[in-house]
Amino acid sequence: MSVDNLPLTINQLLEAASNARERAYVPYSGFKVGAVALDCDDLLHFGCNVENAAYGPTNCAERTALFRAVADGKKPGDFKVVAVIGDTEGPISPCGVCRQVLAELCAPDMPVVLGNLHGNFRVTTVSELLPGAFTSQDLNG
Ligand code: THU
Repeated sequence: MSVDNLPLTINQLLEAASNARERAYVPYSGFKVGAVALDCDDLLHFGCNVENAAYGPTNCAERTALFRAVADGKKPGDFKVVAVIGDTEGPISPCGVCRQVLAELCAPDMPVVLGNLHGNFRVTTVSELLPGAFTSQDLNG
């Protein structure tokens, strides 16, 4: 899969993620992240990071977007692209937990757009982000 035949440009995806980023709840880190997941019906699901005083329950922007989409009825494989943006020097790098969730809910070749606030971006894929992911197939022995 590539980003060529998507209904939104990379800039539009990152702008939407940037809008989601403004809603981040980050009283502890002050580090706002935004994400969008575009589904097979061309609907955008928005996510931001939501932090917690106990730190551990914090939810990253990527997972918020994907979990919201699932709660709204989307299934694994229903996604065309995920875009993420944060105030990093280079394109943002998703955490390991989010990479595992991307591997669970998105096709291995689905594009992932990683951006920052300075206009830098990188297009990668789910399997590039987490080669050798543990998947449901591994549970079948
Ligand atoms: N965070 C994200 O939401 N996504 C990423 O890709 C990296 C990190 C959040 C988690 C936490 O709220 C804050 O950024 C600092 O780690």
